[in-house]
Amino acid sequence: MLMLQLMNLDLDRDKFKKLLYKVSDIVADLYSGLEERKVFSGLNPEDVQKLFYEDLPEHSFEPDNVLNKIKDDVIKTSTLNISPYFLAYVASSGTQAGIMAEMIGVALNQICSKWHCSPVGAEMEKQVVEWIGEFIHYPLHYPNSGGSLVSGGSAANMSCLATARKVKAPFDVSKDGLKAGPQLTVYASTETHSCIEKSIDSLGIGKRNLRKIKTNDDFTINIDDLEKQIINDKANNYYPICVVANAGTVNTGAVDPLYKIADICKQYNLWFHIDAAYGGPAAGTNIVGDLFKGLELADSIALDPHKWLYAPVEAGCALVKNVEALRGTFSILPDYLRLDMEKSTRFEFMEHTFQLSRNFRALKIWATFKTYGADLIRKSIEENIKTIKYLEELIDLSDDFEVLSSAILSVLCFRYKTSDEKYQHNDEYLNKLNQELLNAIEKDGRVFITGTLVRENIVLRACCINHRTNKKHIEIFLQIIREIGQTVQASLKD
Ligand SMILES: Cc1ncc(COP(=O)(O)O)c(C=O)c1O
Repeated sequence: MLMLQLMNLDLDRDKFKKLLYKVSDIVADLYSGLEERKVFSGLNPEDVQKLFYEDLPEHSFEPDNVLNKIKDDVIKTSTLNISPYFLAYVASSGTQAGIMAEMIGVALNQICSKWHCSPVGAEMEKQVVEWIGEFIHYPLHYPNSGGSLVSGGSAANMSCLATARKVKAPFDVSKDGLKAGPQLTVYASTETHSCIEKSIDSLGIGKRNLRKIKTNDDFTINIDDLEKQIINDKANNYYPICVVANAGTVNTGAVDPLYKIADICKQYNLWFHIDAAYGGPAAGTNIVGDLFKGLELADSIALDPHKWLYAPVEAGCALVKNVEALRGTFSILPDYLRLDMEKSTRFEFMEHTFQLSRNFRALKIWATFKTYGADLIRKSIEENIKTIKYLEELIDLSDDFEVLSSAILSVLCFRYKTSDEKYQHNDEYLNKLNQELLNAIEKDGRVFITGTLVRENIVLRACCINHRTNKKHIEIFLQIIREIGQTVQASLKD
């Protein structure tokens, strides 16, 4: 049984230090053996439950044994999005600088609510938000413009939409609620991430008042339809407040024509918000031409450092041109938080975001920028874009795969079509084959990829925001999928 110092839960210094060395070993071993590990365990819920479900531990357990359990059972049941063969969703690959910073940040246990609870937390957060803005050419300077770090893209979009609602509603939405005025409406393309709909729902605007606008062949919003819908709504006594533009859709990576949306927002006095949770950092690279033209005109942007800035989860960021609008949306000061509050130049993050107790998210992002520098991060993003284009080239050269949506940013949608002419034009068969293939790939576990629908067809979707993935991995990745595809095809034929 664990012998603790009297009256608190701390270990003595030497024991603690020894355990921390062991933690370092576990982490270093995980990273050195990454390529050889399966990305997905292939276990089912019951298998995982067996390892962790037990009666509430009433008595202490040697921390060394707790670490052994983590080393053996936690690692083996984790999905390794840190692996170069993880190309699913839009998932953080994390930086080692971020890991080290996060470990120390946890030890410091900062609560980044009021400035005096963590002076470093507040000042570093301001710096990091300004750096993110600078990186994507959206200049921000506290105290006028800035933003706040939140858990991720969903929270960042929600924060910005809450701000849009507060600023643009023609009545006091915080005081009187939504019934006090006309029905508000928000606009976004059909390709928009589901967190926007979730936000609209949570903000009480009502899902049907999120107008989903059709997209063009390249998956960008149809601007004419957008404008027609706004005009139509105004004529019918709805009250349009905001357009959400995409800078990197989750499905295909499409970037809406931001400058055109900016024009529309200006003309109809709407809040211009961009969901750049995934694609935003590409705006800081040198290989995307003027794809992001107009980004600088946004009233607010949601961007995830835990996606394409490689910070470990959780790290999202709400960027706003007018910080006062953020404060107007989130500031409520009960006595116990108001008294003793030094005004001066202190920036109070608790007044600019929904959460009160907040961890020291800025540290891992700051460490990532400091360690690699903007230049290396930029180059890494460019490499990801080239890597996914390389996958597209390989597929174009093959006779058993086909591209269904060409690489935009770093997303490619493709499917296995077999090398047998007989099946290659049979969508029904190919949908079944690719659905089965997705299941089989997951079960196999060597690579991790998920699917989506492109024009009603089931496709495999590869998204590379992983700084560990290079062309060699992509060749192996495709070969593994081919092998599994052949097996699945053979089983379907039987
Ligand atoms: C475009 C876009 N917006 C928002 C989100 C939601 O972000 P999070 O998962 O960090 O909440 C995602 C997630 O993939 C995304 O790709």
